[in-house]
Amino acid sequence: MEIHRRPVNLALIGFMGTGKTSVGRHAAELLGFEFLDTDELIQARTGRTIGDIFAKDGEPAFRALERQVVQELSAREKTMIATGGGLPTHPENLAALKSFALVICLWASPEKIWERVRNQSHRPLLHDADPQKKIRELLAAREPFYKQADVLINTDLRSVREAAQQVVLQFKLATRHRR
Ligand code: S3P
Repeated sequence: MEIHRRPVNLALIGFMGTGKTSVGRHAAELLGFEFLDTDELIQARTGRTIGDIFAKDGEPAFRALERQVVQELSAREKTMIATGGGLPTHPENLAALKSFALVICLWASPEKIWERVRNQSHRPLLHDADPQKKIRELLAAREPFYKQADVLINTDLRSVREAAQQVVLQFKLATRHRR
């Protein structure tokens, strides 16, 4: 199915720990865009943490909230949207994002991801006996979705600033005929 593209926003997809929030904030500043994070929107709306939603209502309930948030973002312009790592695995979400945003995937190796998330505790999917194995498995399962992004940026060897500059450059290139 062909979708109508109106890339007036930017959406960052990618695995946990690839830098969506930090790179997104920085790139939003460079572009003069508003910054939104789907996890933060869900937490603000429900008044609960992601961990609490996963623990008490289960992952499907969280995914339903994600879908709701994506639908509500469609009227926006000049917004940088950092998404939760699992959000683009729902094909409806990816199609919706593509209709109103240039979709950029931040990529990182499982080793780099582990290095970045190992001292953080707020991600329920990584509360696992073997989190490194979980990262490898989830990343492999999600790769086909992440690869549907318009642009892929490897953050393994890039600082937040460098990755943000790449995001801005790619957005400018992709929208140069619209301005
Ligand atoms: C998830 C990633 C998290 C958050 C939730 C589930 C995932 O967001 O949405 O814990 O399924 O990968 P970040 O990618 O911002 O950590």
